Amino acid sequence: MQSAQETGVEKCSAAFITERGLCQQIYCHGELLSTFTMRKFLVTGGAGFIGSAFVRLLLAEFPNVCVANLDLLTYAGNLDNLAGLDQKGHEFIHGDIADAAVVKDALDGCDTVINFAAESHVDRSIANSSEFLRTNIVGTQVLLDVARKMGIKRFVQVSTDEVMGSLPEDSSEYFTEESAFAPNSPYAASKAAAEHLVRAAHHTFGLDTVITRCGNNYGPRQFPEKFLPLMICNALNDECIPIYGDGRNVRDWIYVDDHCRGVLAALEKGRAGGVYNLGARNERRNIELAESVLAVLDKPRSLLKFVADRPGHDRRYAIDPSLAESELGWQPRETWESGLAKTIEWYQTNSRWIERVRNNEYREYYRKQYGTQGGS
Ligand code: NAD
Ligand code: TYD
Repeated sequence: MQSAQETGVEKCSAAFITERGLCQQIYCHGELLSTFTMRKFLVTGGAGFIGSAFVRLLLAEFPNVCVANLDLLTYAGNLDNLAGLDQKGHEFIHGDIADAAVVKDALDGCDTVINFAAESHVDRSIANSSEFLRTNIVGTQVLLDVARKMGIKRFVQVSTDEVMGSLPEDSSEYFTEESAFAPNSPYAASKAAAEHLVRAAHHTFGLDTVITRCGNNYGPRQFPEKFLPLMICNALNDECIPIYGDGRNVRDWIYVDDHCRGVLAALEKGRAGGVYNLGARNERRNIELAESVLAVLDKPRSLLKFVADRPGHDRRYAIDPSLAESELGWQPRETWESGLAKTIEWYQTNSRWIERVRNNEYREYYRKQYGTQGGS
């Protein structure tokens, strides 16, 4: 291979930060050959379910992208979720968003932060909320402070519809961006607190922020503590499926890649200080979901097991995504049928992934959470 000197191309001709990111200009004998913009994003929580899908999306959408992926690799973080990525544009950093020194290093050269890192499971927050307060609240504030000091151009906070509490059943009420905050679980309360901190960083310090609020995601690589992958993994092993309460609670389900495209649209086109609800107009009762999974896998209804309800269980979530549709030009692509089929097929063909995440730690969690009532 010829060196830069031999080809006449001057090594590292010029590089400077522009509105769009790091701009590099390549010169040959003083003549400008080409200019390209390299964007560098900091994605936090990028070894988790949604964060890893977002990293894949960024690498696919932007030819000259650099993605720094900061993740603490908690029980929910999994390097297997990043298998097969083009490592050229991807740098994995093992670290904590609540550690300012780590965040400062990770942000070097970045222009944008997308914060997915969180403790994300409601049941775990009911059992013990301390990590939820540390990561979701303190961690978000640390990220905001360092991002501001380093002159980051845009900060995207990935939030949840759960900050708005529960809607009445069988009503035509929906969550909008104007809905009042009414978080009911420690998880939802910690995400609501994080949103307040993001809002304050925008209002007080002028940090360019955007908040997205999404409903229940489903798709490949979701940790099987959450309802849909738990059902799929259990049913594949002919184990019982625990249904909380009467099974008539409603959630608004969206395929993970559609959510990620919504986050990207908000990053690119969202108003500074804006909030966008992302949803696929796909309300389903839990029992209906369970029956769909059994039908696709051809498993008997006798696997369903009604168990004690979750304390404070929100009855219904339903999102009005009109603002994101009109302002961001975003719309989900997957139907419920196509998304569910893809999801189930992924779990059917990735038994090794399932085996590795259903390790002793997971089994201990499962035993504590469900006792004998939800087990096999
Ligand atoms: P997940 O639990 O699968 O992944 C969370 C990731 O964050 C893991 O990789 C974990 O290792 C990492 N992490 C945790 N604490 C950290 C810390 N202190 N520092 C760095 N990394 C840390 O969660 P998910 O389902 O992918 O959710 C991602 C985000 O989307 C969360 O902010 C969640 O609140 C939000 N959200 C999730 C859903 C959903 O249905 N799963 C819906 C709406 C919003
Ligand atoms: P989950 O996946 O935990 O998401 P969230 O609580 O954030 O909506 O739960 C989705 C729904 O499924 C919720 O109504 C609780 C219910 N559920 C069960 O019925 N059984 C289970 O074992 C789990 C984990 C959840």
